[in-house]
Amino acid sequence: MIQVAFYDAKEYDRPAFEQYGAMHGMRFHFLETRLNADTVALAAGCDAVCVFVNDQVDAAVIDRLHGYGVKLIALRSAGYNNVDVRAAYGKVHVVHVPAYSPYAVAEHAMALLLTSVRRIHKAYNRTREFNFSLNGLTGFDFHGKTVGVIGTGKIGRIFINICRGFGMRVLAYDKYPAADSGIEYAALDRLFAESDVISLHCPLTEETRHLIDGNAIRKMKKGVVIVNTSRGALIDAEALLSGIKARHVGAACLDVYEEEADVFFEDRSGHILNDDLLSRLISMPNVIVTSHQAFLTREALGNIAETTVNNIRSYFDNDGICDNELCYRCGNIEQCRKERKERCF
Ligand code: NAI
Repeated sequence: MIQVAFYDAKEYDRPAFEQYGAMHGMRFHFLETRLNADTVALAAGCDAVCVFVNDQVDAAVIDRLHGYGVKLIALRSAGYNNVDVRAAYGKVHVVHVPAYSPYAVAEHAMALLLTSVRRIHKAYNRTREFNFSLNGLTGFDFHGKTVGVIGTGKIGRIFINICRGFGMRVLAYDKYPAADSGIEYAALDRLFAESDVISLHCPLTEETRHLIDGNAIRKMKKGVVIVNTSRGALIDAEALLSGIKARHVGAACLDVYEEEADVFFEDRSGHILNDDLLSRLISMPNVIVTSHQAFLTREALGNIAETTVNNIRSYFDNDGICDNELCYRCGNIEQCRKERKERCF
């Protein structure tokens, strides 16, 4: 039986993983703690580790996993910026779940956007107190507005289709624009200058870290609404707060936050939050924060468990060959077009 140390396990993870794991001869050891240098020893004796977005899989952790004989790091997420894939090369293979429900994330981005622009969160609180005043609840029509979409992969394209359903004009930026997609691509500066709404759907890489900084915000339209359901560090949160305080940024919808690893996914309601920047952002009337929940639908959880179990099974049954391996042989994961009939190393 394949033994898997399952880090950062939450109540909502277990049912689907237990179900698919049992079907495929796999035993998950559910650990509430996150993977880091202090907790890596819990993986000793396991064949694989299963990790999520805030597990810290850096070079030191990878060396220890390698030392314990762990063969596989199975990410149960699409993003892999928390895994030092370069350091893993030649030691431990890394697989991920490239898609589980891009609809879940794209729909959440639109849910945040509608909530923010139409002040639904304010109205909900008011009517619960029998306050039926409309003062301060004025929004704007999406129809005819321009939405700038950065990253036109699986999620970005679904978000584009949703926006088109609202009659919005779409401008997009992608490092690797999709040919024949019917999407109007523009340089970032033009996208910043023309967009009423900007939504981020690209991965976090060295290149995209703080893609939205003070300089970028200054190029945006006054009143721009920024949506981030991708990765927190795409935005320089200090610069975003300054843009909001200067009344230049009209609203921000954030499902992710650069320092979320220390805060998100836990109930901290009885505690004093040490993150002043996050506290200040949350205190703004035009900022909505959800704690990395864009993926959280029944469909996505089922698909994540099924694909992760299939990835692990395929790796151990198939001489280490897995379609969803993050291959680093060529040194360029983003553009690697390796035929998946062989292992990365
Ligand atoms: P994808 O790989 O299908 O698309 C990413 C797109 O970004 C590609 O078209 C790629 O060419 C583009 N890209 C790469 N480098 C770029 C750059 N420097 N500038 C602009 N574009 C660049 O990925 P998918 O499935 O659409 O996911 C997008 C992101 O959404 C993931 O990287 C992940 O960080 C985030 N995500 C967030 C979730 C949440 O719960 N909040 C859940 C799932 C994904």
